[in-house]
Amino acid sequence: MADVNAVNQDFTRYDQVEKRHTYRLAEHVSDAFDEDYEIGVLDFGQFLNGDTADKANFVEAFGAAVRDIGFTVLTGHGIDTKLYDEMHELVIEFFEALSLDDKMQYRARRQGSVNQGYFPIEETSDIHPDQVEGWVFCRRAFDMEQSGSKQGSKQGSNEPFCAEDFWPDPRYEHMFRRLALSHEQLIKPIAQAMFQSLGCDPHIYDDKLSNTNFGLRLNYYPSLNEEHEHSGAGRLLGHEDVDLFTLLPAPREEGLQVWNHRSNKWVRLRAPEGSLILNTGDYMQRVSNDRLPSTTHRVGNPDDGSHRSTPRVSFPMAVYVWEEEILEVLPGLGKPKYEPVKAITFHTRSTAKFYGDDYAVES
Ligand SMILES: [Fe+2]
Repeated sequence: MADVNAVNQDFTRYDQVEKRHTYRLAEHVSDAFDEDYEIGVLDFGQFLNGDTADKANFVEAFGAAVRDIGFTVLTGHGIDTKLYDEMHELVIEFFEALSLDDKMQYRARRQGSVNQGYFPIEETSDIHPDQVEGWVFCRRAFDMEQSGSKQGSKQGSNEPFCAEDFWPDPRYEHMFRRLALSHEQLIKPIAQAMFQSLGCDPHIYDDKLSNTNFGLRLNYYPSLNEEHEHSGAGRLLGHEDVDLFTLLPAPREEGLQVWNHRSNKWVRLRAPEGSLILNTGDYMQRVSNDRLPSTTHRVGNPDDGSHRSTPRVSFPMAVYVWEEEILEVLPGLGKPKYEPVKAITFHTRSTAKFYGDDYAVES
């Protein structure tokens, strides 16, 4: 049952990694903001195109930033800002052009680990009435190579890909696929830099991340009227991502807030236009034996009041491993705090917090 006064510790039974801090799910006037902490902006081009010394310098700074707060901002990632601009406009068109009836034909349901499909406003989760519409597309929703993993799209079936199974208009599959393919090129280099920063084999996940699963989430936050603003429902509740890591093109509208576990305050994240925000999730906290945190974040109202007149758009891509893979603490990171667990079990036990106890798959 949604409760605007709920705190995260009301739901610890779902946590699959340790989360000791306490925060209200919804933004509140009593919340404290950390005006001093600046989330690091790093040039990923140093790693992608640099020599050995450049790569080592990047890895050191990247590791320090991610260990410190679980968030960093990457420039030099090689993706054309124009693509992000086009995607911004496309997300608005996508949500505004379709009727609610059309959208509800694609209501979210579990496909493997991922709750894929449409989430109406106030129904992003069962536990909080967020003022956002969302739509999640996992790899199965794209005409992309699914093999290379034994857990491919149709799981043993030879059915051809059919965009209409996932998209109200197949041309959107084609257009959003460009974004998925662009980000896919960054998945292994980011993972390699992250594992190298931990002192692990940088390539330890290369096989798992070949044609891996992901969740591209399109978010459309309508402008808020006064009634919404004072209802206690924020734009998006405080949460941690369940994944290895998330790639988020810097949104045009402010609102993203990140929990600083040292100051116990929220940091307003303002990323440069065209940059890519990166944060680590629960899978990564688990396999890194808590070295890399899965950091709490949420979307609140911007300082400038633009939420009263302007919709906000974001399109994060969550990087997963396929359901049958095992999440296990990496070698060399001390005595494992966690048992090995199948990804689908880990993922669905954790996200049952949002989707109900029967979402969990125990296999
Ligand atoms: Fe998130």
